[in-house]
Amino acid sequence: MLNLLAITGSPRKNSYSTKLHNEFLDPFIKNGSRIDIINPYDINIKPCTACGSCKDESNCIFDDSMTEIYKLIRDADIISISSPLYFSSFPGPLKTLIDRCQLLWEENRRNSIKIKERRGFFFCTAGSDYNDIFLSVLTVVKHFYNSINTSFNSDETILVKDCDLKDQISPEILEKCRILGTKYSD
Ligand SMILES: Cc1cc2nc3c(=O)[nH]c(=O)nc-3n(C[C@H](O)[C@H](O)[C@H](O)COP(=O)(O)O)c2cc1C
Repeated sequence: MLNLLAITGSPRKNSYSTKLHNEFLDPFIKNGSRIDIINPYDINIKPCTACGSCKDESNCIFDDSMTEIYKLIRDADIISISSPLYFSSFPGPLKTLIDRCQLLWEENRRNSIKIKERRGFFFCTAGSDYNDIFLSVLTVVKHFYNSINTSFNSDETILVKDCDLKDQISPEILEKCRILGTKYSD
């Protein structure tokens, strides 16, 4: 049975990026995978203060929701992230979660705890369209997945621009998300 951690980065109820993500998750739900869904807006995570406490051992000065999330990341076979684009970047709460994974980056650097290999996915929506619109978030996602031993194929990301001109995501794009989920849930 696969363990999947899904991080949904949008604060909106009828979020486009969450919709893409849910289509991807559906085949995993149907085949009985274990799925934990986290929205960083709904939980309490303090921003990393660069105190250095995780440098020599896996120790964070904050005991908040990240304590459980470190465990979910370590146990996951698959991690999926969805997010809207905010100022060509991520919404603050999602970026805060990523920054707190400095503890896992340090573990990897020390090679002290071998966190298992896993596969990562990414879904992002943007309101408008301009040159290299997704470049910065793709850079962050690649860096993040690389830091937590997660393989990532950028050809399999689903990036949808011009969403503020649409009143729904096209069925073709939703189908692409479902096909991706089906491919990796079997
Ligand atoms: C604070 C804020 C910043 C945004 N910044 C950008 C941006 O830099 N580029 C862009 O194309 N759209 C931007 N948008 C629009 C969102 O990316 C767009 O509406 C997206 O589809 C929302 O996804 P969601 O429905 O999953 O929340 C911004 C929206 C908000 C609220």
